[in-house]
Amino acid sequence: MNRNIAIYPGSFDPITIGHMDIIQRASRLYRRVVVAVLRNPDKRSCFTAEERVDMIERCCANLMNVEAVAFDGLTVDLARAQGATVMLRGLRAAGDFEAERTLAQLNQRLAPELETVLLIGRPEHSAISSSAARELASYGQSLQGIVPDEVVKQVLAHFHPASHS
Ligand code: PNS
Repeated sequence: MNRNIAIYPGSFDPITIGHMDIIQRASRLYRRVVVAVLRNPDKRSCFTAEERVDMIERCCANLMNVEAVAFDGLTVDLARAQGATVMLRGLRAAGDFEAERTLAQLNQRLAPELETVLLIGRPEHSAISSSAARELASYGQSLQGIVPDEVVKQVLAHFHPASHS
């Protein structure tokens, strides 16, 4: 295993099985993985940062080298504060590439010492995203195989409190 600390930033609103796959693979590659949840006061999130951190912690309870934190501001500042030398992002499909290249190059300017590492998602996860999970949940559809089992009920309950109490 690589001795580096990796930071995996995102909105995770909510965490999906695609995110989980990246986290599990990263936990085998790096000494420590910090899942960094952007508080994002401008972009209205569905779940609070505390709820998102709590969901990630429940899903990662058996991954001893993974932790979740909420943050504001620049990801590179959190990376420095955590002693991370790697910033991880997942790439689901070709359409993700331009946005990830821009993000990686901006972060390169801000923190040349931090390397962005892109992990390729599994093909069966290519259509899975937090926004797809929110949309399916809003229509009361099953979230099995979209978000981790540990959080299915909580995500559905957010949209349909009476049916999932
Ligand atoms: O899951 P997302 O929404 O694609 O994650 C995007 C995220 C959180 C990684 C990105 O917006 C981010 O890093 N925001 C924090 C501010 C920042 O560092 N911006 C990049 C350089 S200007």
